[in-house]
Amino acid sequence: MNELEQLDKVVDSLDEELNQIDDLNALQQKKASYLGKKGVIASAMANMRDLSIEARKEIGMRSNKIKQMLEERFEQKRQAIENAIIEKKLKSESIDVTLPGVQLPTGGIHPLNQTIMDLEDLYISMGYTVAEGPEIETDEFCFEKLNLPKGHPARDMQDTFYINPELLLRSQTSPVQVRTMLKEQGKPIKIICPGKVYRRDADDATHSHQFMQCEGLVLGKDITLADLKGALLEMAKKMFGEEREIRLRPSFFPFTEPSVEVDVSCGLCGGKGCSVCKNTGWIEVLGAGMVNDNVLRMSGYDPNEIQGFAFGIGVERITMLKYRIDDIRNFYTNDIRFLNQFKEVK
Ligand code: DAH
Repeated sequence: MNELEQLDKVVDSLDEELNQIDDLNALQQKKASYLGKKGVIASAMANMRDLSIEARKEIGMRSNKIKQMLEERFEQKRQAIENAIIEKKLKSESIDVTLPGVQLPTGGIHPLNQTIMDLEDLYISMGYTVAEGPEIETDEFCFEKLNLPKGHPARDMQDTFYINPELLLRSQTSPVQVRTMLKEQGKPIKIICPGKVYRRDADDATHSHQFMQCEGLVLGKDITLADLKGALLEMAKKMFGEEREIRLRPSFFPFTEPSVEVDVSCGLCGGKGCSVCKNTGWIEVLGAGMVNDNVLRMSGYDPNEIQGFAFGIGVERITMLKYRIDDIRNFYTNDIRFLNQFKEVK
């Protein structure tokens, strides 16, 4: 085979060889095997020394053409491979914006917080402000200034945790009444105070050593029991439904006179009587009354000038009634299956 034939053969096999290559490394190697120092072109030219000048000229021209053609073909192939790589990358990275998004897990509002938010919304809309007080309270504010002197038998119902003889975990939110009166110094008051309270109770379905109350206190000129009833009727309708009614029953609290216990009509039987309301048609929801003269006086208010009412709502109690929860411990054990049920509650 002479040199010219050898060169032509190179061109013949090129297409087929290039077709089999699909990465840049292999292409580079293939290019070297054609155009490199030890490549097929170089070896075809190796024996040119022995040829005539004419033959050398012809072969030289021909080989230059072929080299140029090879360069072009390798360059084309290189670009084709690079395009294919980019194409593949774009395909694998493309985003289908029409796919549904991934829902991130979110928390929900705890049912007790929801109740407190509802109570705050309601009472703020009636002109109340939200007051706060400490959970570690003095015996004086939690009991004595609420007309419960040391040794008073009504203290039994509110046995709590003592830090020392004078400091305790508050057993009710009522001491915030005292704190507010001392601060306002005889001026009218209209507050609610939601918060945690503590009692030395063994935990069971209806008792918890820590629970929540929402205190209310309204003091002003000519505030009457009718105002109290109005404030609580609004609450019952907002929390349980417009069709609900309330009734007041005589009761006793040392800090109110007269004192009442407030029932709301049973939502399950509509007042006819069922197992939830123990066949009475009514469910007890809170304690309230007209603020006792002694309580007013002890915190610097003149009962002849100013008087009013107070109430203490059991936050767990109304939440349990509203959502038909039968065990108070559910609120505090953080079982996600329980809490998830309230994600959508409004
Ligand atoms: N503090 C009372 C309790 O824990 C509830 C209560 C009753 C609060 C009557 C009041 C009230 O403000 O007037 O049982």
